[in-house]
Amino acid sequence: MTVTDLDSSWLAACLGLDERALNGFWTVQQWRRELEDPRRLCLGLVKNQRLLGVACGWLVVDELHITVVAVDPDERQRGHGRCLLLALLQRARQDGAAHATLEVSDDNIAALALYNRAGFRTAGRREGYYRDGSDALIQWCRLTPEE
Ligand SMILES: CC(C)(COP(=O)(O)OP(=O)(O)OC[C@H]1O[C@@H](n2cnc3c(N)ncnc32)[C@H](O)[C@@H]1OP(=O)(O)O)[C@@H](O)C(=O)NCCC(=O)NCCS
Repeated sequence: MTVTDLDSSWLAACLGLDERALNGFWTVQQWRRELEDPRRLCLGLVKNQRLLGVACGWLVVDELHITVVAVDPDERQRGHGRCLLLALLQRARQDGAAHATLEVSDDNIAALALYNRAGFRTAGRREGYYRDGSDALIQWCRLTPEE
């Protein structure tokens, strides 16, 4: 199993994973931009050429904005999400990030546990942020150089 940089050759695999793990969160165009834009970081966990999970984000000055972390439903609770998130934070740190942030639904227990264990804390709430009316919790983490 390896963590690898994803490029546009992984587009179909990302769309398949998105369908299975996120119910079609992003369009083809959004995934293409995520995979092709050089300012974006997009890592995948790959086993035997199969994409088990992804973690992506983009750097704005010294802040990493995490756009997605997702693991195939058949592969969850085996440490893959944590592995991908830590790899993404490490890469962002190397590229000069001092903080990381993201929004997560306040009812996403698994994601909140993942981010909390990785050192994120809730820094605010955006009411009615999602299409279903649920609130987003803003997660924030300082990236210390020695981590
Ligand atoms: C959130 C998600 C990426 C976690 O991936 P994962 O591979 O199952 O996570 P891990 O196995 O690495 O677990 C990381 C931590 O979260 C906890 N956790 C994971 N799933 C959990 C659940 N369903 N309930 C409670 N805690 C959970 C784990 O126990 C672990 O904590 P620990 O180290 O104290 O044991 C996965 O559930 C997923 O893809 N969800 C759908 C997409 C999504 O909502 N992404 C986040 C928003 S961008």
